[in-house]
Amino acid sequence: MSKSIKLAILGLGTVGTGVVNLINDNLDELKRRSGRDIVITEVGTRRQRDDIDPNIIQNSDLMAAAASDNVDIVIELIGGTTLAKDVIMHAIKNGKHVVTANKALLAEHGNEIFAFAEAHNVHVAYEAAVAGGIPIIKVMREALAANRIEWLAGIINGTGNFIMTEMRDKGRPFADVLTEAQELGYAEADPTFDVEGIDAAHKLALLASIAFGIPLQFDKVYCEGITGITLQDVNYAEELGYRIKHLGFAVRRESDGSGDAGIELRVHPTLIPQNALLANVNGVKNAVLVNSHPLGQTLYCGDGAGAGATASAVMADVMDLVRVLGSIDSNNESTNGHHVPHLAFIPEQLSDTPILRAEQMITGYYLRVHAHDNPGVLADITRILSDAGINIDAILQKPAHKLGQVPVIILTLPVVESQMNIAIEKIEKLDTTTDKVVRIRLDELA
Ligand code: HSE
Repeated sequence: MSKSIKLAILGLGTVGTGVVNLINDNLDELKRRSGRDIVITEVGTRRQRDDIDPNIIQNSDLMAAAASDNVDIVIELIGGTTLAKDVIMHAIKNGKHVVTANKALLAEHGNEIFAFAEAHNVHVAYEAAVAGGIPIIKVMREALAANRIEWLAGIINGTGNFIMTEMRDKGRPFADVLTEAQELGYAEADPTFDVEGIDAAHKLALLASIAFGIPLQFDKVYCEGITGITLQDVNYAEELGYRIKHLGFAVRRESDGSGDAGIELRVHPTLIPQNALLANVNGVKNAVLVNSHPLGQTLYCGDGAGAGATASAVMADVMDLVRVLGSIDSNNESTNGHHVPHLAFIPEQLSDTPILRAEQMITGYYLRVHAHDNPGVLADITRILSDAGINIDAILQKPAHKLGQVPVIILTLPVVESQMNIAIEKIEKLDTTTDKVVRIRLDELA
């Protein structure tokens, strides 16, 4: 067997430990598939660990480990956007290929990191950064390379999906389920990233760049989390044949008279039909539905978080790089000959298609309006919607549940958000309505 490939694993948390375990468990398979011996030579860890093979150097100086002559591939699993960025840039400068699961870092600084890697003729692989164990980056960059992607919709935060599933199925309180997700190693170091939708927005920024060949633009992703979702809305949605899921959408819009041309990037709770496959993706599972031409809809599903799933994606990248390292030119440098571009499209061909603002986005809506139980209330509300050109798809009025107040649930067909904002403002100003209107977006996924 030819020269061994030497790995540095920087960060030994849930994922780092998962990678060490995966290598120990599957080393024979890895060797048979790559034709190389694969050896962990260094681990970067703040404190010495006595459960690590004594032949592996435990290095608390991560910058030194990233540049070590004893390392071919640096696996960054530290997380965060400061030290992790320094370590990756240092590794690249020293000619190392990098594998990372760090979606926050890539979503925020990926344009700079990928350009730096290209200038140094090395690769930064990031399959584990999106949807855990689902090989969605490879699918979109390679298997769908002949398609024009029209839109994608995905459950891309395992913690959020786990919380929503447990709340709906077992009526468990939000905080309890979040604690369990943390114990299971699903949640981010700062779990507000999971429940406020930020983690999903990081991943969506990456998926959208690969889908449409646009630079990474995390700052333009519209982002809403799950903290405002109540059991009441979950139940009304179910009664109307829908389920609330936290989804990320990247949608290409042409200017066809109904709205502006550009790309919608948004993560938010969404009502989707109960019989949609995505509606039945539960627990920590992630799923990404891609609609492309001429292929049509394809769905990719699997565990979106956790040690084993994420380690699987990390090591798939390592295996790719082992193959790249197998093709070295006469100067002993790796060649880019069969390397897939970082963002799927060659850097000079990235497009400047605008990202649409929230007011320009088009979705259906679930509205929950609270009104006094007076004659004509429903007529007032529906007149406002009709004046705004908003088409009502379904309406549900419950009997007065507390003194003189009725919840009215309305589902609408897709409408430009600015129109919906105007209508909601008018509904809230009616003398007959009480409280703020609750709005949740709705998508038929057709
Ligand atoms: N906190 C993330 C999740 C981990 O729950 O999906 C995987 O990126």
